[in-house]
Amino acid sequence: MLREQNIRLGLIGCGGIVQKSHLQGLLAIPDLVTISAIADPIPENRNRVGTAADIISEQRYEDHRHMLARAELDAVIIATPHHLHAEHVIEAAQAGVAIISEKPMATSLEEADQLLDAVKKHNVPYAIVHNFLYTPGTAEALRLLRRENTGIPQTGRALSLFGKTEDQADPNNVWRASKAAGGGCIGDSAYHEIYLIETMIGSPVRYVEARVQTKFFDFDVDDVAFLLFEHENGAISTVSTSWGMPGSGDHNICEVYTRTHGIRIVGRGRELRYLDKADRRWQPVDLDHGLDNDALSRAGHANYFAATFKALAEGKPPPITAEHARHNLSLIHAAHQATTQRRAIDVTEL
Ligand SMILES: NC(=O)c1ccc[n+]([C@@H]2O[C@H](COP(=O)([O-])OP(=O)(O)OC[C@H]3O[C@@H](n4cnc5c(N)ncnc54)[C@H](O)[C@@H]3O)[C@@H](O)[C@H]2O)c1
Repeated sequence: MLREQNIRLGLIGCGGIVQKSHLQGLLAIPDLVTISAIADPIPENRNRVGTAADIISEQRYEDHRHMLARAELDAVIIATPHHLHAEHVIEAAQAGVAIISEKPMATSLEEADQLLDAVKKHNVPYAIVHNFLYTPGTAEALRLLRRENTGIPQTGRALSLFGKTEDQADPNNVWRASKAAGGGCIGDSAYHEIYLIETMIGSPVRYVEARVQTKFFDFDVDDVAFLLFEHENGAISTVSTSWGMPGSGDHNICEVYTRTHGIRIVGRGRELRYLDKADRRWQPVDLDHGLDNDALSRAGHANYFAATFKALAEGKPPPITAEHARHNLSLIHAAHQATTQRRAIDVTEL
């Protein structure tokens, strides 16, 4: 058990995702968690989050190492650029606090294993954010898939197409557009489609064929990723993601097909459609959001944090573990290997 009373939480990184989504999710579970301290080198971000979370000025740190040394914390959330995750997790583990890290856990499997050694050595809970498994649409899709008459998914595809502007793809201003910061569309965007389609198919990916390339922008990261998966149970699925292919309408979907039915998650879980192949028509599924509209825009973070902090408070393993996160990272690693070697990669050999 992490703590009998409220969990005292520190935030490492107060940027875009914290302001847009994490904060509302965390402030919605005051019985479980109190944000006690925050750290970010950018004063505007620190102040914005500090004000919204009502943090006293002494607990707003420029340097996260000072926060880890001085603040009384039970847990931290790490939401910094990708190349800093491993370093920040290791420092938090040394400080003896539970860790919830934004995805991906690290930029390479070697880095991932180093941070997992530290987590093990210091015996701290470690969880990773796979928030799109916690949207109302995904939750209902998984429930429909468990229905006896729906059948077993044979095929699936996930699509996330974005149209970044030149400004959004400028490596001088945007860390996501730089290899040194762990950027690129497969690790930043397709990351979510990979765990979504694997969960929907319901069987681990065994073989990965892929092309991960740079086609649209002048930078050193990938902006298109096409992946073909063969799952352990023989099902096949694809993931297609790009930053240079602006989608329209259903440009962000994850769908699976059984012999008799189809299930399509739209917008990473905000809507859901169900197909009975005998009817030949997709039907919208009413979702029990259990949240207001504003909460919906939180992309599943509210439900994810509620489930994770509840598990931590009860001394149980978090719902998304290091094993899930490392597996997802290994599929990304396999996709890069498949691209350079032009062959399918068996992920059990990684
Ligand atoms: N799960 C999701 O749906 C989702 C969505 C967006 C982003 N993310 C993830 O969240 C993380 C952050 O992304 P973002 O969009 O918020 O980026 P961002 O650039 O908007 O914010 C990053 C913040 O980290 C801060 N930072 C940098 N070095 C720091 C340090 N040493 N200590 C403390 N803070 C530091 C920056 O100053 C900035 O405020 C990434 O891992 C990203 O993949 C997840």
